[in-house]
Amino acid sequence: MKEAKKLNITKSLKLFEEAETLIPGGVLGARKPSDFIMGEYPIFLEQGKGCRLTDVDGNEYIDFLCGYGPIILGYREKEVNDAVIQQIKNNGFCFNLSQPYQNALAKKLKELIPSAELSVFLKTGSDATTASIRMARAYTGRIKVMRCGYHGWHDWCVEMKGGIPEKLYEDVYEFHYNDLDELEDLMKKHGDQTAAIIMTPFGHPLHEKMQEPKLGFLEGVRSLADKYGAVLIFDEVRTCFRLRMGGAQELYGVTPDLTVLGKGMANGYAISVVTGKREVMMTAASQLFISSTFFPNSLPYIAALKTIEILERDKVLDNIWEKGDRFLKKIQAVIEKYDVGAELSGVAPMFFITFKQDEMKTRKDRRNDFYTQLIRKGFFFAPHHHAYICYRHTEEDLDRTVQAIEESLAYVHDNMHGDLECTTWSNHI
Ligand SMILES: Cc1ncc(COP(=O)(O)O)c(C=O)c1O
Repeated sequence: MKEAKKLNITKSLKLFEEAETLIPGGVLGARKPSDFIMGEYPIFLEQGKGCRLTDVDGNEYIDFLCGYGPIILGYREKEVNDAVIQQIKNNGFCFNLSQPYQNALAKKLKELIPSAELSVFLKTGSDATTASIRMARAYTGRIKVMRCGYHGWHDWCVEMKGGIPEKLYEDVYEFHYNDLDELEDLMKKHGDQTAAIIMTPFGHPLHEKMQEPKLGFLEGVRSLADKYGAVLIFDEVRTCFRLRMGGAQELYGVTPDLTVLGKGMANGYAISVVTGKREVMMTAASQLFISSTFFPNSLPYIAALKTIEILERDKVLDNIWEKGDRFLKKIQAVIEKYDVGAELSGVAPMFFITFKQDEMKTRKDRRNDFYTQLIRKGFFFAPHHHAYICYRHTEEDLDRTVQAIEESLAYVHDNMHGDLECTTWSNHI
């Protein structure tokens, strides 16, 4: 298979050079160029519409990262933006006191999310996971936390520990998704001092293949929380309004005490939520100070109400599952055609193509070759992060994507060292 032509990303590179003189590292966090493939991916974007992005050099992409998750409908979704613009023009959004939208949104969440009784609104997913831990600690009078998954950049859970005193995370223990024995062992040791078990109810570990819960896993976690009197928190920042309107807890039928929401609920506007059992949530009123100048800013509430209205009215998640299931079947078929150690995991709304290791340790090369071909062909997937589908992906977009995935796998195949053709692939990195 012929190698795709390298993109012209001259303006992106120039802007990055300037950014390095203005911002530490030029770009921070998950958007930094080294989190993609240096020299191949654009670094700055100009605009987005529907499922398409255009970078500052004018290259256009069909996007599968969806802003890292918030874009559930599509970029620049007119109905959502119009509702926000009306609010800006007619009422304003930053005041001394709250506007009534908080009540409307809290009512809606109560209707949709199995665990929702009372809700607290914040801005980011990290705000909300941190608030949920504070509530659980206040409610139980205990300190320890069991965690599974990414929960944001705050002191108690971030991977990079620079600048954080050890005492701020020494009571937080990690367990692996689908490993109930590991959690059971931890709870045997620390259960009577454990305030919370916080976990993503669907397995999306960093850089690795995605996992659905094994039979009895979520139920087992629920019973351990009950047995030891810990608050069970589902971090549904990625899964709510994506897998189901009521999140993974609706899909898998296990209800936590608290739920954290963010990302997809407002199609890109910044809002997050802790919602859950009245008695635990009431600590927010009686024992905690949860406040920020911008928490009551009404634009994201308006965007969330409009987004949820569209999701329900247009049965958006049914649409995403139906076209996504067809899409994933086609991807699986092309993966099976080329023996290059590629692997598809996840479910229709969120999925990941990863690469297995081999004796010669070429996993990274094969992965980078694959994702380089895709970005050059105009398909924005991230090599280290799973993909999402949004409402505005059409069947035609998805069929074109399957074709590009097939060509990229064929390129990897042709580019592989002959010895690898009869290798045994392994999941060890
Ligand atoms: C599961 C999960 N929890 C929490 C967060 C943190 O959210 P934010 O980046 O909005 O602070 C993320 C962000 O990716 C996430 O995926």
